[in-house]
Amino acid sequence: MLGFQPPAIGDEEIAAVTETLRSGWLTSGPSAARLEERMKEFLEAEHVLALASGTAALHLSLVALGVGPGDEVITTPITWPATANVIVHTGATPVFVDVRADDLNIDPARAADAVTDRTRAVLPVDLAGQPADLDPLTALGVPVVEDAAHAAESFYRGRKVGSIADATCFSLYATKNIAAGEGGLISTNRDDVAQAVLDLRQMRRGDGSIYDIPVPGYKANLSDVLAAIALCQLDKVDKHHGIRQRQFSLYDEALGDLDGITSLERDERDLHALHLYIVRVDPERAGATRDEYQRALREENIATSIHFLPVHKLTYYRERFPEQPPLPIAERAGDEIMSLPLSPAHSDGDIGDVIAALHRVHERFTS
Ligand SMILES: Cc1ncc(COP(=O)(O)O)c(C=O)c1O
Repeated sequence: MLGFQPPAIGDEEIAAVTETLRSGWLTSGPSAARLEERMKEFLEAEHVLALASGTAALHLSLVALGVGPGDEVITTPITWPATANVIVHTGATPVFVDVRADDLNIDPARAADAVTDRTRAVLPVDLAGQPADLDPLTALGVPVVEDAAHAAESFYRGRKVGSIADATCFSLYATKNIAAGEGGLISTNRDDVAQAVLDLRQMRRGDGSIYDIPVPGYKANLSDVLAAIALCQLDKVDKHHGIRQRQFSLYDEALGDLDGITSLERDERDLHALHLYIVRVDPERAGATRDEYQRALREENIATSIHFLPVHKLTYYRERFPEQPPLPIAERAGDEIMSLPLSPAHSDGDIGDVIAALHRVHERFTS
């Protein structure tokens, strides 16, 4: 089976973990601090805080901004459920608005229509590495918490993602462009947000004998073992981006011959992080549904994935918020999208195998 997104881990990461274990630092220590310093430079941000996960980064950002019971947070349904779950964790209500058909990112015009006097934040996602349209979202006049789990390398209109929103949240999960296995980062230019996250992250400091706490924290700090892996991945980020670029080009070229299978739009004004290669399968023209394509590719030993099923249609959200208005663009996309294998661990030959299998399957469904 050709893996969907195998991690690109080399001898450098293995050596860094060994060295860290030998150093005696298992919890947050010098490597986590170095990662924060280096990511500040990479993300062009005043503050970067290392956390246990991207989910923790999103949650603590909302708490730091004072989001709580009675508030509303506007977000996109085309995301990993964590984006919405953290809104629920604060006691606030997620308000899902529909996405744009071309890139499946939140539609700023619909977000503007959803603003009420209870809106406390907007939480866009940079799906697949394409930045959300941040200018009109920032103009809504409420804090922006950007879910940049897919967008470590992205630039929006010449500005680095990580330097724009009130808080930008990254994930170091196993499949991400900077992968540590687990982990997250918050970048912000706001001193008050950075200080609040620092308190909420709550690590034990000093020798731990006399201590005090300003808030009941979440213990969401990043282990040095994982930070050491992330530092190696950061060293390789440009090299890996180049490999992703080549894999994207191979797919782009191949799609020209596959009627009914199209990729999501990438805005040329932005730098795309190339995290996921998402295609839409139009069952009328492609001769079969997305699910049938996925099954057929699996039989060809090609693993694919879905990013994402619309969150408001998942059991918890359907039952807890049954009054959701229909979100037709997201709902249709949820039936049609499929992510193809993409990873710096794959060779051009691997991507060639995916393309050849896709051609065979397409031929079968359309003849
Ligand atoms: C869009 C999006 N948001 C948030 C997350 C959560 O990140 P983590 O798995 O690090 O908690 C993910 C991770 O998979 C994601 O894809």
